[in-house]
Amino acid sequence: MHPFVLTTLIFSFCSVLSVDASKTLMGFSIDLIPRHSPMSPLYNSEMTQTELVKSAAMRSIARSKLLDFIGQNESSSPLPSPPSPSLPSPPSSSSSSSSAESAITPVPDHGEYLMRFSLGTPQVERLAIFDTGSDLSWVQCSPCETCYPQDAPLYDPTQSSTYMEVACDSQACTLIPQNKRDCGNSRQCIYLQQYGGSSITIGRLGSDTVNFGSTTGQAATFPESVFGCAFYSNFTFEISSKANGIVGLGPGPLSLASQLGEQTGHKFSYCMVPFSSTSSGKLKFGSYPSQSPTNGVVSTPFVINPSLPSYYLLNLEGITVGQKKVLTGQSGGNIIIDSVPILTHLEQRIYVDFISSVKEAFNVEAAEDAPNPFEFCVRNPSSMNFPEFVFHFTGADVVLNPNNMFIALDNNLICMTVVPTTGISIFGNWAQINFEVEYDLAARKVSFAPTNCSIY
Ligand SMILES: *[C@@H]1O[C@H](CO)[C@@H](O)[C@H](O)[C@H]1NC(C)=O
Ligand SMILES: *[C@@H]1O[C@H](CO)[C@@H](O)[C@H](O)[C@H]1NC(C)=O
Ligand SMILES: *[C@@H]1O[C@H](CO)[C@@H](O)[C@H](O)[C@H]1NC(C)=O
Repeated sequence: MHPFVLTTLIFSFCSVLSVDASKTLMGFSIDLIPRHSPMSPLYNSEMTQTELVKSAAMRSIARSKLLDFIGQNESSSPLPSPPSPSLPSPPSSSSSSSSAESAITPVPDHGEYLMRFSLGTPQVERLAIFDTGSDLSWVQCSPCETCYPQDAPLYDPTQSSTYMEVACDSQACTLIPQNKRDCGNSRQCIYLQQYGGSSITIGRLGSDTVNFGSTTGQAATFPESVFGCAFYSNFTFEISSKANGIVGLGPGPLSLASQLGEQTGHKFSYCMVPFSSTSSGKLKFGSYPSQSPTNGVVSTPFVINPSLPSYYLLNLEGITVGQKKVLTGQSGGNIIIDSVPILTHLEQRIYVDFISSVKEAFNVEAAEDAPNPFEFCVRNPSSMNFPEFVFHFTGADVVLNPNNMFIALDNNLICMTVVPTTGISIFGNWAQINFEVEYDLAARKVSFAPTNCSIY
């Protein structure tokens, strides 16, 4: 066969694949828009890098505080009270439940990356917060009892020829914890999602076609994807007018990553960019052809803790700082890998040893005026030798660049992106910049490949 004919055949075959996503494996990537980058509707040219970093660091602290009680004071978890009976079809939520997922679901404002997707037929574009620490994706829908104000019109499921209600006895509905769901008047599935600070959102579970206008030029279409159609949200947050909802990519069965399942080979990955980058990050589903077997790919298993069902937990065995290795002495999952908080939060016990090794390795005075919430900053970094930092996850030694460990602020100050926490440790997104981080839900592992995400 003539090579040209073959190429044409392969191309038409590929486009068939992309159209009929329900039967075949596909790979595609879309932009992950840094919250405050020029590509984002939240871009504010007046804000300095230092201001942006400080506000992101405060959000990171707020998110980690929601996880404070894990392994500490489990009984004192601050559960918000259930919705009042005057709400339309309120779920029969029992506040006596110790169900941790309700208490630790973060407020949606913590997202550092946004993503676009389209919903329904005809397609309606939505801008949503990207979150690997929650499962159910949702958008605000009309008619709405109480919604936070958003610039874009509410999603109107009656205008979509492919929208379907999910019944309360369907399998999808039963994936929602029992005390967080209810049966509506016409037996539709009603869900409740609680956030920190007593905020809640309630909606109908529905299914519709989700479409990603991918940056690879292929439209990726997934019919009958289950999501929440919110009709009650009693909170507002800084970016609420711009964000129409959340895309949840957690490990639970209702997350979008789990729903795409075999169609994307049970895999997704992200590649995050530094604050200074003018390009966006990437979110990739499936095995994308451009993936070269990069040097230095390492993998570690993830586990799911029943009290943290929406998080990917890794096991951190130790951290090398220069010549010294700090061991955690732990073997179960002890650190959440999270795409949302920028900082890496270490359990107090590990942090103490870690930071003393850092001080030893640097052998310079720490700056006395570390701006809140940073704990360790140094001045005049250009005159310093940076020690090597290696995070030893089980089976995966991740060698970090100094840029993953420090953030530059004003006045020649650089601050360490690792801070202590009274709760569970979190491996934050600054440490993951310029790595392609792949989640394989079938093999239950997370891989790290050093990558220049700006040209990825
Ligand atoms: C846990 O409870 C103790 C005693 O009630 C209290 O002193 C401590 O601050 C609590 N810790 C957290 C993380 O809430
Ligand atoms: C949201 O509604 C719930 C249930 O009615 C209530 O307990 C909570 O205080 C409300 N939160 C806010 C922020 O108004
Ligand atoms: C990544 O590529 C961009 C564009 O070529 C370049 O400016 C940047 O320095 C590179 N970053 C790293 C960490 O190599």
